[in-house]
Order: sequence, then structure tokens, then C-alpha cells
Amino acid sequence: MKLGVNIDHVATLRQARGTVYPDPLDTAILCARAGAHSITAHLREDRRHIQDDDIFRLKELQPLPLNLEMAIVESIVEIALDVLPAEVCLVPEKRQELTTEGGLDVVAHFDSIKSTVQILLESGIDVSLFVDADEMTIAACKDTGARTIELHTGTYCDAGPNERAVQMEQLIRAADYAHSLGLRVNAGHGINLENLGGILCIPHLDTLNIGHSIICRAVFEGLEKAVKEMLEAMQDYEG
Ligand code: PXP
Repeated sequence: MKLGVNIDHVATLRQARGTVYPDPLDTAILCARAGAHSITAHLREDRRHIQDDDIFRLKELQPLPLNLEMAIVESIVEIALDVLPAEVCLVPEKRQELTTEGGLDVVAHFDSIKSTVQILLESGIDVSLFVDADEMTIAACKDTGARTIELHTGTYCDAGPNERAVQMEQLIRAADYAHSLGLRVNAGHGINLENLGGILCIPHLDTLNIGHSIICRAVFEGLEKAVKEMLEAMQDYEG
């Protein structure tokens, strides 16, 4: 199984101050050095974290395949066709949401999703559809021509202990069904070290896309060193 690291949250920190650091590109290079298999970045219509220039640099200047997460918005599709990432993951996007809140309704928006999938595939970009664990939705994914789905694991990860078994059953059934249709199965959203054990019960997984928990953990893994570095740099003060 492979790990894709979502680095949006590094760009969020940068945008909070309008600085040039921390740079998502440096982040991707570190992820590659650590053994990650791909980099995910979500170019949102409101550009709240990742910027257009990040996407171009992430495609050209770091070694991992780029998975560009995006909504079906004409101007962003144009950017995807210009950048040609290894993969695009199509997601729904709402202006007010804190993060992607659910999977694509592939049945309701079938025509626009299918035509976008076809345009991207014809340009040599692999396409994945971010969906809830629902069999009708997954059957519709297959009909769009997409070869991959990403199962939305957020509902499972956010569920209390009593609800988790039901959510997991749905994820397992959905993964089995997608696999039986010949679809590649990825999963993502809300995965952390605590709930990973449960996630690993899902069969046929190709890639887990994980962002928030890895970046949060990196803060604590790195904080002691960062404070020590600053204290050391202050040591020679003679005033
Ligand atoms: N996969 C998709 C489609 C997402 O929208 C996100 C969040 O941007 C992730 C994976 C990663 O989720 P998290 O940051 O909760 O690990």
C-alpha cells in the first residue's frame, strides 16, 4: 500500500502570514526523502492555501507523482490541462466548508463529471473520484470511465465508537464492490495514527492520502528542535 501526503496545511500556515515560507515544495521534497509515494495538493477556487504557482512548481521541481485535488471548475480544469499532473482527484467544493465535507454525487452530476473525466484522461492524466461508500455512486464512477475511486473515510474517522462498526462495514463493502468493477481503490480524509488500524481493515487499498494528522504531528516532532535552535542562536547576545 502507498502513502500520498496532502500538503495543503503547510500552505495554510504560509498564507496566514503572507510569507514565502513554509514552502509546500520543500515539504514535498522532505516527504519524498521520508519515503512517501505521492504528493496531494488541493487547488481550491478560493485559493485559501495552495496557489497556482505551487501546483506548477510541485509538478516540475520535486520527484513524486502529483495528485491534484480539484473541483469541476472550468478555470481549474484548464490549469490541470496545462500542468498535466500524474493524477487528478475530483472532489466537491463548497466555499464555506473547513475541509472537503463529503464525496461527489456522481449520480446527480453524472454528465459534467463524465465529460471532465474524459477530457483529463485524453490528456494522459489519471483520474480519481472522491466518493462516499455507496454502491450506486461507485457504479456511476465506473461509467464515467474513471479508473480510480478515493473512498471518503472522514465519516468513519469522526464516528464515535458505537457507530464505527457500521461505517467500516460500508467501507469494506464499497471497496469490495469497486474492486469487482476493476476500479483502483484509494482512501482518505481524517486518517491518523489512532484510527489507522481500523482503516487497514478495508480491502484492496492502493493508496492512503493523509494530510492533517501528519502535518500536526510534524509540529510536535519538530518543536523541541526549533526552540533549541532559536535559543542557541540567541546565546551570543552581549547587550
Ligand atoms: N483526500 C481528499 C479527497 C481530501 O479532500 C483530503 C483533505 O484535503 C484528504 C484526502 C486528506 O485528509 P486529511 O487532511 O484529513 O488527512
